[in-house]
Amino acid sequence: MGIDILKEKFSLKGQTALITGSGRGIGKGLSTAMAKAGADIVVLDIIEENVHKTVEFLESTAGTKAYPYVADLSKTDMIPHYVQDILSDCGKIDILVNSAGIQVRKPALDFTLEEWNSVITIHLTASFAMAHAIVPGMIARGGGKIINIASLNCVMAVPNIIAYVAAKSGIGGLTRSMSVEWSQYNIRANAIGPGFTRTKLTEKLFQDPVKTKWVMDRIPMKRLADPENDLGYVAVFLASDASSYITGQIIYVDGGWLAS
Ligand SMILES: NC(=O)c1ccc[n+]([C@@H]2O[C@H](COP(=O)([O-])OP(=O)(O)OC[C@H]3O[C@@H](n4cnc5c(N)ncnc54)[C@H](O)[C@@H]3O)[C@@H](O)[C@H]2O)c1
Repeated sequence: MGIDILKEKFSLKGQTALITGSGRGIGKGLSTAMAKAGADIVVLDIIEENVHKTVEFLESTAGTKAYPYVADLSKTDMIPHYVQDILSDCGKIDILVNSAGIQVRKPALDFTLEEWNSVITIHLTASFAMAHAIVPGMIARGGGKIINIASLNCVMAVPNIIAYVAAKSGIGGLTRSMSVEWSQYNIRANAIGPGFTRTKLTEKLFQDPVKTKWVMDRIPMKRLADPENDLGYVAVFLASDASSYITGQIIYVDGGWLAS
């Protein structure tokens, strides 16, 4: 009986989650956990091949429905059309996860304005535009959940990624603003701040043994984050009724980094 109540509280059955950047990496891990918790998933990514691979993977491992959608979120004026298209396919979006991201690594003074804009656009502007297009439908259906993917760089700067640090710091404010404006509509907005995770985004960093040692030395748990098992079930928690009184928060999932 006790376990049944837990299952019910953490279940995403009957919910549809749109996860940006879910063709690979952290977005794919979040999708996997949410699908295993019962959600149907809209897999949105710019890389078509990866969209189809994730859809096949989700349908074969979790058995829930997965909808493929190929889109370039840097074209922010297209986002309302993408969302309309997606809704005509899947009918509703109960959970929005903004995970798509890019990185540009170079000293601040070498950044071009174009590079700066590209990073700010994907992480910050597209996250706002996705919510802006999806939230009216959530309001009409009586509520929803938004999970933004933040970073340790929300609160900590390291050299050579100035646009990323600025964008991820902005994700903190975006999440808090969403929560205070949309609580009245039964919409909760939270963020996950993942610690270092081995993905395409961090591939270059982990090719450098000095930087790898610098990272590993700072993680009390002495390991990197796993997209599904360490991050994905935190997303399930934030999307489920188990977190019904949590909104406007950033949950850092970092193996102890920020505490140390
Ligand atoms: N890897 C880490 O250590 C780490 C740590 C903290 C936060 N994050 C954040 O996690 C999120 C996922 O990153 P990741 O590490 O899985 O990287 P990743 O490169 O593996 O995944 C990013 C995904 O976003 C997609 N994407 C990029 N530009 C897009 C666009 N214009 N339109 C649509 N999709 C686009 C990519 O195709 C890719 O599938 C990002 O927001 C990143 O900032 C990553």
